[in-house]
Amino acid sequence: MDGPVAMTTTSEVQTAEFGRRLSDLLAPDDVLSLAGDLGAGKTCLVQGIASGLGVLGHVASPTFNILLVHHGRLTLNHMDLYRLDRADQLEDIDFFATLESGGVTAIEWGDKFPASMPDDRLEIAIRRGEGDDDRVFELDGTGPRSAELARAWADACSDPGGGGRA
Ligand SMILES: Nc1ncnc2c1ncn2[C@@H]1O[C@H](COP(=O)(O)OP(=O)(O)OP(=O)(O)O)[C@@H](O)[C@H]1O
Ligand SMILES: [Mg+2]
Repeated sequence: MDGPVAMTTTSEVQTAEFGRRLSDLLAPDDVLSLAGDLGAGKTCLVQGIASGLGVLGHVASPTFNILLVHHGRLTLNHMDLYRLDRADQLEDIDFFATLESGGVTAIEWGDKFPASMPDDRLEIAIRRGEGDDDRVFELDGTGPRSAELARAWADACSDPGGGGRA
């Protein structure tokens, strides 16, 4: 499959499950850029990823801390750029070094400073669907690795069974 892929969840629980399925596919230095309004489900998806990576404890929204780091099978760098006003503030959180530190980085409001994002990132745009709890996820891999990740994740989520988890 080529070009953007869309998939829909109908509950918070299902979004977290989609996150767990994505976690199985992640590799060091993968970058996920999450876009969507307040309450779209960005943090919910990252909580599922964290759970799948074996992160213990609650994964809080990083809105106020900007960056929270969690340790699991891979290190999960969870960022929220909502409160940043300017791209140069990314230096304050060691943004560029963090992306290349061997963990996985999930960036909420990652569409805010497009020029600062790495070339190869999986863009996940979340919008509300018809029902109150429907969320539509549009995936766009901007480079070879993220395009492969988008395809594999969409495949894993189209399987209503176990999602192919080992
Ligand atoms: N299908 C769904 N997937 C995810 N969340 C859902 C879904 N249906 C309803 N919700 C609700 O939407 C909200 C999503 O909140 P969440 O904190 O994940 O959003 P967010 O995109 O991170 O917002 P913010 O920009 O404030 O960080 C929660 O209250 C959750 O219960
Ligand atoms: Mg959030």
